[in-house]
Amino acid sequence: MSKIHLAIVVGSNNRESINRQYAQALAKLLPAHFSVSYPQIDDLPMYSLDLEGERAASVNRFTSEIGAADAVLIVTPEHNRSLPAVLKNAIDWGSKPMEKNVWFNKPVAITGTSPGAMGAALAQQHLRQIMGILGSVVLGGEAYIQFKPDLITSEGQIGPNSRDFLQAYMDRFVSLAETLKG
Ligand SMILES: Cc1cc2nc3c(=O)[nH]c(=O)nc-3n(C[C@H](O)[C@H](O)[C@H](O)COP(=O)(O)O)c2cc1C
Repeated sequence: MSKIHLAIVVGSNNRESINRQYAQALAKLLPAHFSVSYPQIDDLPMYSLDLEGERAASVNRFTSEIGAADAVLIVTPEHNRSLPAVLKNAIDWGSKPMEKNVWFNKPVAITGTSPGAMGAALAQQHLRQIMGILGSVVLGGEAYIQFKPDLITSEGQIGPNSRDFLQAYMDRFVSLAETLKG
């Protein structure tokens, strides 16, 4: 089985992010031939054409990490029924210039959690639209997760109430990433 590298982009710049904890628990559901990294997005400058002449080192680091990844899992909170600005900014940097769009043909899965009853559903729906426009191969299905204390165990694993559902979701993503890697 060939090695697959998954970049997990967490759409939060909060130190105690529940989405980061959730992302780390999801990574534990991956098979052994998957390696994982968490590209940083909170040090990227706000996108401007004026910064395109000589891109910041943080931008080059981020786009290289995404470009080199076989697949990307985006785990995001919801801000005002959409994705947080810090995540949209990172996606924008990766999308330009158009001929170097790092999201194109990339297998992408989307999930996220919020204490709200809708579990960040609208942020994910909006993100699905954006990634589709950018040419990513977005995993079908939905994983809207309301954050409750039992979502993640004290050992950092996905808790028993959500485990089967999320294992099945991740297994489908593993299959997609393997198929597209060839
Ligand atoms: C500006 C702002 C807007 C928010 N809007 C929403 C929202 O539309 N829906 C929702 O479920 N939660 C909303 N929240 C609550 C977040 O889901 C909550 O802060 C969550 O912990 C963020 O995830 P994180 O800890 O991974 O950053 C909002 C929070 C902030 C700061």
